[in-house]
Amino acid sequence: MYTSFVKFSFIVAIFFFALACKKKPKEEKTNKVHTHHGMAHTHYTAHQKLDGHKLIFPSKTPDRIIANLTEDPAHSFAINWRTNQQIKKGILQIAIATDGPEFALDNIREILAKTQSFQNQNRHEPMVKANFHAVLVDSLQPNTTYAYRVGNGVVEQNELWSEWFQFTTAKTADSKDPFHFIYFGDAQNNIKSMWSRVIRSSYKKLPEVDFMLHAGDLINDRDANLEWGEWFYAGSFIHATVPSMMTPGNHEYRNDSLTVLWKPQFNLPQNGPTPSVSETCYAIDYQNMKLVSIDAPALDPNHEDGHAQVQWLDSVLANNTKKWTALTLHYPIFSTVKDRDNKSLREAIKPLIDKYKVDIVLQGHDHTYARGAVANTPQGATNVDAVGTIYTVSVSGPKMYQSKDQEWMKRRGEFTQLFQILSVGQDTLSYKAYTPIGSLYDAFDLVKKNGRKTLIEVSETIPERFKNNVLK
Ligand SMILES: [Fe+2]
Repeated sequence: MYTSFVKFSFIVAIFFFALACKKKPKEEKTNKVHTHHGMAHTHYTAHQKLDGHKLIFPSKTPDRIIANLTEDPAHSFAINWRTNQQIKKGILQIAIATDGPEFALDNIREILAKTQSFQNQNRHEPMVKANFHAVLVDSLQPNTTYAYRVGNGVVEQNELWSEWFQFTTAKTADSKDPFHFIYFGDAQNNIKSMWSRVIRSSYKKLPEVDFMLHAGDLINDRDANLEWGEWFYAGSFIHATVPSMMTPGNHEYRNDSLTVLWKPQFNLPQNGPTPSVSETCYAIDYQNMKLVSIDAPALDPNHEDGHAQVQWLDSVLANNTKKWTALTLHYPIFSTVKDRDNKSLREAIKPLIDKYKVDIVLQGHDHTYARGAVANTPQGATNVDAVGTIYTVSVSGPKMYQSKDQEWMKRRGEFTQLFQILSVGQDTLSYKAYTPIGSLYDAFDLVKKNGRKTLIEVSETIPERFKNNVLK
């Protein structure tokens, strides 16, 4: 009996000793600072905070609702959204919008989404399980404003539906009216905190914008659900109202693999050369412009898909009948920053840009601003086409590098967040770069008439911003 009592006391003592020794759980750091390319940025571990929780985890109500351009934007558009896995079915309702609420009373078309169960866990983040829903809405009328919403299909459960969004289809190819799109360089870091004002300011500047173009590095850490949550939060209803197209950057890739979230989240054209660059390398026609996305991180001349992309681009441009041609890719053909030259990329792509006289190349990656032109003829040859191709590098997020002045550059900038509005008409492509406070930073008109291309500078009096004159 006594022995049992001693044994029991010993066990109790051990238990309390172990309890006393047990370390308090470490508090999670919210902003662990890493450095990358010499610039600090945050990694997130704060998912237990309410805000992080809302940005990461889905619920029964649709979130991350985004419209994407299709190959035929006058007659179709693509919508993706996310719910938790309790919502097994996704339904999109659509009707021609009316002045009053009558559009919602009858004649609503319902489309069943393709639903994909999906889970991913990135580094220190928790596992996120979601259902992603995708709808391609076709048979639409051009230049028509539609109202649509997404939900679980049960009309009585209003709380499980999105609000009604409005979306206007493109005009037909023969339209004489100009269209407008907004191009963004890298958002990438501190997206909710510092990029939100850029996309919102761009929408405020031009709410009738037809689509938005993101030139890669939308986020910093490929599969980080919190960062993607911040990107969707920043754009909010704009993503559901203005269709987007995006080309991937190196930060959407890791170890040669595209983020697992790209294809569930987006519904981009699948007309590229190989399945592995489907929805990253593709072409669309928007009214009188052809716009091509090249998957720059997958473009390695030694890589099977790299060669396939070059061959494909050659055939796409050879068959191009559009008056204007724009190319987007993340890595710049001409880097703005010292020691970041992309020689093999330039050797692979520039001969085709020259051969087909691409009008403008929209790029990111270098976290500075530069815009200039390079002749389409080899150096020293008679330059019949005086303008050549316009090359731009821009940045919309807060991470900033310094650039190096080069002969091709006409305008340059550092430490400046920017968005660019491109208006494409019959004879004129008008380009304007704005800061988030709405100041014009760069502008030119490209005029193509009677077989001749002319560049008209309209921003020469605007002072350039450099790190040294911004941070005194
Ligand atoms: Fe990049």
